[in-house]
Amino acid sequence: MSKSITVPIHGNYHGYYSKRPTIKDTRLALLPPTLFAGKRVLDIGCNEGWVTCEIAQSWGAHKVVGVDIDDVLIQHAWRRRRAVWSLQAPSDPSTSTSSSAAHLEVEEVSTGSKKRKRKHEPFDATVIPSIPPDYFPASCEHEFGSLPIPPSILRGKHVFPYNLSFRTADWTRTEIPEDSEGYDVVAAFSISKWIHLNDGDEGLRHFFMRIHKVLKTGGTFVLEPQPWDSYAKAKRMNEILKENAKNLTIRPDDFESILHDIGFVHTQHFGAVGEGGFHRPVDLYVKERS
Ligand SMILES: C[S@@+](CC[C@H](N)C(=O)[O-])C[C@H]1O[C@@H](n2cnc3c(N)ncnc32)[C@H](O)[C@@H]1O
Repeated sequence: MSKSITVPIHGNYHGYYSKRPTIKDTRLALLPPTLFAGKRVLDIGCNEGWVTCEIAQSWGAHKVVGVDIDDVLIQHAWRRRRAVWSLQAPSDPSTSTSSSAAHLEVEEVSTGSKKRKRKHEPFDATVIPSIPPDYFPASCEHEFGSLPIPPSILRGKHVFPYNLSFRTADWTRTEIPEDSEGYDVVAAFSISKWIHLNDGDEGLRHFFMRIHKVLKTGGTFVLEPQPWDSYAKAKRMNEILKENAKNLTIRPDDFESILHDIGFVHTQHFGAVGEGGFHRPVDLYVKERS
């Protein structure tokens, strides 16, 4: 599906992460440190994939899938994956040789005639642990482009970036292939308002029920709902949203009891982070039964 909408009625903002925290997402920082470790994770409404990349890179996830309704955003997400890979510092000598080798090799390929201006010391694997995190600084990524990703066989399928993929889909209506195996964690950051305004009360209920269905028993749903007062501005984007909003009877304060009725238990509220209009709660629900 190729679906990029000029008016972002799904919250499909382009350049969203120029407004949100970038390097380390403060919402993720609220969560238990082992939440994603070794887990299959679905990030619904992943936008340009910044949070999804962080989960895959820094939280030890086994497999992460980001899905978004807007195909252009998903193309950006794939690019983000490669950019994050390019900027990744070699982590330990056992895994870094391949990535460092790739760094060196690419510099030769992508800098072309500039190659001679950037002089390298001969590659010495014994100095890897002291290589600073800005080994391939962002400025190089801007100037020369991203580094290619070497074959996964060198590092393993379940480390970044091999543990991360993206899909374009309206996830409320379309199953993606990864759904059939189920997930340990499903994340829905700042998307419930858009589902609610586009698909109404029933659409939102259906969305929560689908999340329950694809989660394994004992799995976790991480929800960052937008508050009701933020719906007013969003609905003005378009006549359909405005009309739909008139019929909404569910409020974000009701989500917890709806989720309990569906079969989620052990709600945990982690408080709210984010500046200005992005100050939103982050809540965690556990699937008790199938
Ligand atoms: C406001 S952004 C939030 C991005 C990201 N989750 C975050 O909080 O950093 C909402 C995203 O949800 C996506 N979205 C909305 N409805 C969707 C649907 N039915 N299926 C998949 N993605 C959807 C939008 O395209 C948009 O990128």
